[in-house]
Amino acid sequence: MSEQPNSDVGRTGHHEIPNYSQEPQDRGAFTSSFDRAYTRFARVYDLAVKLVPLWKAWLRPALPHLQGPRILEVSFGTAHLMTEYASRFEVHGLDLNHEMIAVARENLRRAGLRATLCRGTAEALPYRTGTFDSVLNTMAFSGYPDARKSLEELLRVLRPGGRLVLIDINYPSDGNWFGTRLAELWKRGGDLIRDMGSLFRRCSVGYVDEEIGGWGSVHLYVVTKDPVPAGRGASA
Ligand SMILES: C[S@@+](CC[C@H](N)C(=O)[O-])C[C@H]1O[C@@H](n2cnc3c(N)ncnc32)[C@H](O)[C@@H]1O
Repeated sequence: MSEQPNSDVGRTGHHEIPNYSQEPQDRGAFTSSFDRAYTRFARVYDLAVKLVPLWKAWLRPALPHLQGPRILEVSFGTAHLMTEYASRFEVHGLDLNHEMIAVARENLRRAGLRATLCRGTAEALPYRTGTFDSVLNTMAFSGYPDARKSLEELLRVLRPGGRLVLIDINYPSDGNWFGTRLAELWKRGGDLIRDMGSLFRRCSVGYVDEEIGGWGSVHLYVVTKDPVPAGRGASA
């Protein structure tokens, strides 16, 4: 998927050129290694999210963009964002890791909230086409081994006119040093930093990209699925 040479970050004046990741060759191994890590660290992750206010501050800007009544959160982790909106919508969630799901269930139960959760992968969502009014995805897309397939799935389950609200790490558009280093740090941890704009354009969807933190490295994308299903549009 990478459209840039996978060399060291290049410099042009004060700006740095994005150095996007390559898609992994062995997708199964890539996902299994994340799955093992989340099994080990689910409770630490949950505690960290509860103790570090910055994490929630990065995720909350997604909330005003949710439109109901039916929401799907893919890769909800330990459900800390879900607990902030589940009282207002019919909520469904899918995550890869059984331990993260177990902790999420505890968090929801403690908060007295309901959601229908299941285990699965973003690349093959077990929902019918056009089911959800909004699909939410935070800090997870860069951990998916097949960007095109995952994005197509997130869009497929949206109803026409629905919204995909996605927050993830990427390079800052102005190439500033701090934001670029942060994105690089994420990459060193195993995440895949993609050219999301080009990915959205290839899937023919309109999107807004807002840099909401981390010196421009935390991006909020609001993607709108065409209200007219492809092939049924009015001809010019
Ligand atoms: C960094 S956590 C983010 C959790 C939460 N959304 C947040 O913002 O804190 C990434 C989550 O993605 C899940 N995940 C990783 N690979 C996945 C895949 N291929 N399909 C679905 N979920 C996946 C992990 O189990 C984990 O819960």
